[in-house]
Amino acid sequence: MAKVDVKFSPHKAFAKEAHVATKAALSRMVDEASEDVVSFWEGQARELAWFAPWRKPFVWKHPHAQWFVGGTTNASMNCLDRHLGGWRKSKAAIIWEGEPGETRTLTYQQLHAEVCRAANALLKLGVQRGNVVAIYMGMVPEAIVAMLACARIGATHNVVFGGFSSEALKERMNDSNAVALITQDAAWRRGDLVHLKAAADAALKGCKSVQHVIVLQRTSEKTAMKLGRDHWWHEILAGASRTNEPAKLPSEHPLFILYTSGSTGKPKGILHTTGGYLTQVAYSAKLVFDLKEDDVYFCTADIGWITGHSYIVYGPLLNGATIVMYEGAPNWPEPNRFWDIIERHGVTIFYTAPTAIRAFIKWGESWPAKHDLSSLRLLGTVGEPINPEVWMWYHSVIGKQRCPIVDTWWQTETGAIMISPVPGATTTKPGTATKPLPGIAVDVVRKDGTSCDVNEGGLLVVKHPWPSMLRTIYGNDVRYREAYWSEFPKTRKHPGWYFTGDGAKRDKDGYIWIIGRVDDVVNVSGHRLGTAEIESALVSHKLVAEAAVVARPDELKGHALVAFVSLKSSAKGLNTDKLREELRALVAKEIGHFAKPDEVRFAESLPKTRSGKIMRRLLREIVSGFGVTGDVSTLEDMSVLERLHKGDEE
Ligand code: WT7
Repeated sequence: MAKVDVKFSPHKAFAKEAHVATKAALSRMVDEASEDVVSFWEGQARELAWFAPWRKPFVWKHPHAQWFVGGTTNASMNCLDRHLGGWRKSKAAIIWEGEPGETRTLTYQQLHAEVCRAANALLKLGVQRGNVVAIYMGMVPEAIVAMLACARIGATHNVVFGGFSSEALKERMNDSNAVALITQDAAWRRGDLVHLKAAADAALKGCKSVQHVIVLQRTSEKTAMKLGRDHWWHEILAGASRTNEPAKLPSEHPLFILYTSGSTGKPKGILHTTGGYLTQVAYSAKLVFDLKEDDVYFCTADIGWITGHSYIVYGPLLNGATIVMYEGAPNWPEPNRFWDIIERHGVTIFYTAPTAIRAFIKWGESWPAKHDLSSLRLLGTVGEPINPEVWMWYHSVIGKQRCPIVDTWWQTETGAIMISPVPGATTTKPGTATKPLPGIAVDVVRKDGTSCDVNEGGLLVVKHPWPSMLRTIYGNDVRYREAYWSEFPKTRKHPGWYFTGDGAKRDKDGYIWIIGRVDDVVNVSGHRLGTAEIESALVSHKLVAEAAVVARPDELKGHALVAFVSLKSSAKGLNTDKLREELRALVAKEIGHFAKPDEVRFAESLPKTRSGKIMRRLLREIVSGFGVTGDVSTLEDMSVLERLHKGDEE
C-alpha cells in the first residue's frame, strides 16, 4: 500500500473548547508528570471520591506495584453515587438499543437503583467480598449492572465474552474459582439467537465452584432452570432494596479478572485492582475523548473485552458521561446500523476498531452517506495498527475532515490507554498512535535494552509502573514475572521494565508506530488470540499428530489464521475435506467461532529445529507469500519445507 504522508493539526474550533487546548499545555503536563510521576498520579487520584485517603501513593516491589495504599474507595460509588447529588442524577447514563430495534434509557439514578438491587441480590445469595463472580452476557444494560453490583459489594467480576464457547467459559470459571455466574437466556446477534444459558449449562457440568446462577430473561426462548441453583434476574431483584451501602474497599482490592491470550495454550487471568485502575481510566477517558457534560459517547466494543470494561463502563461512567450501548451486529438489518444509531441518538464521540472500519469500507460509502453524521466531533480507534489509507477513509467519509482521530494504543494488561493523541493538542499522522500520555514512560529498545535510533524497529517497553497496570496473572505469579518482566529484568540502572509483546519504531518527531506482536499472539478481527490455544484445540483431535497455527495478513480481518496439521497414520485415506471441517468445528467448540482457522493445510510433517521446536517463522513466511528468506540451517528435514511450499496437501 502507498504511504500516506500527511499531518493534521487540531482544528481551531475543536481546540478552543478542548480540555487540553494547545501543544504547549500538553507539554507542560508531560513535563510536570515526568518531574514527579507519583505526585502527578496523586493529583489524578484526587479527582475520585475516597472514603479514606491513602497513606502511601506508590509502593514498588519488583515486579509488583501498589497504588494509593491505605486509601479506601469503591468503583460503583465513584461511577454512580457521586453523580446523584445534583442535576446529573436525571442525566442518561446508558442509552441502550437492542438489535431488534427497541431502546431503553437508564438515568444515573435508575442505574444506581438497579445496581443496588443487584448488589443486594448477590449478598442474599451469599456472595461475599473477595469472591469471584463470572458474567457471561451479551450487550445488555444488565451486564453493566452486574459488573457494578459486583464492584459495589467487593466481589471480583470475571466477564467472559459471549462469543466464547462453553469449554472456554468452563475453563475461565474454574481457573478463577467463581462462586456465581450471571448470564442470560439468549442474546441477539445478526438476527439470530445465541443461546448463552444453554452454553452456560454445559460449562457448569464441569465446574464445581459455582453455587448460584442468575439468569436475565432477554428473549422469549424456553429456558431450562435448575432448581436451587438457577434464579431469574427479575425474580431475585424484585424483592431487593433499591439502596445499598457500597463496601469500603482498599485501593488494591481486586476489581476484576479478565482472561486474555498469551503465548501458551492457557489463557491468562489478568488481575486489575481498584484505586489505580479507576484513577487512570477516569483520567484517560476525559483526556483522550475530551469528555464534556453534553457528549453522547458510543464505543462499539463488547464488554467482554478490556475496551468494554475501561471505555464503555468505568471510564465514561466515572466522568458522568452518557453512553450509547448497542446489542447487535453492525450490519443488521443493513450495513448502516452504526450510522443510523449515530444520527438518531446524536452521538458526538465514536470509538471503534480498525477491523470494523475496514468492513465499513468494504460495504461502501453509500451507507454512511444516507445519514446525517454532523453530531460527531471526535473519532477513535483501538486494537491494532490502522493502515494510513483506512485512517484517511475514516477521517474523510465519517469525520468529514472535521473530527480529530485518536488512535489509542493499549492492552488488556495496561488497563487504560497509554499512547494516544490528545485531540486538542496533538498533530496526528495517519497510522501512528503518536506519543505516550502524560504520566506514561514508554520507549522502543533493542534486545540489549539500549534505545533504538529513529526509525529503527525494536521492542516496546514501559519504563515506569503506572496506576492501571495489571497486578499479576490470577493464580500464576510465576507466569506474570515470566511474561512481562523477564525480558528486561531489574538492573543497577533501572527498576525493571514492562515488556508489551509489541514491536515498534519511533520516527523523527518521536511518534511511535506499532509494528505488531513479536510473540505468538495474533489479532484477528480485533480479537486477541494465542496460536498455542488453537493448536492445543487441534491436537486434541484423535487423528491429529501435530499442529502449528500462524497468521497471514488479511485485508479485512487484519490477520487470518492458517493451521498446518500433520495427521497420525491412522488417518490415511480419510476424506480430508470432512476432516478439515471437523477440525474447524473443534476449535469453535473449544474456544469460540471467532477463533476458527481460515485455512487448514495438511502436511506430512512440520519443519523443526534440531531441538524439535516447530519453526513457525518459516510457516509464517510461507503463508505471507514472501518466500522463505531467513536462515534454515537448523531445519531437521529440508524436504518438509519444499513440500509445504508447493502446497502439497496430503
Ligand atoms: C494488543 C493488545 C486495548 C484494547 C484492545 C486490544 C494491539 C491495541 C493498538 C493500536 C496498534 C494496537 C497491540 C497490543 N493494539 N491498540 N492503537 N495500534 N496496535 O487489547 O486484546 O489486550 O490486545 O493490541 O498489539 O499489544 P488486547
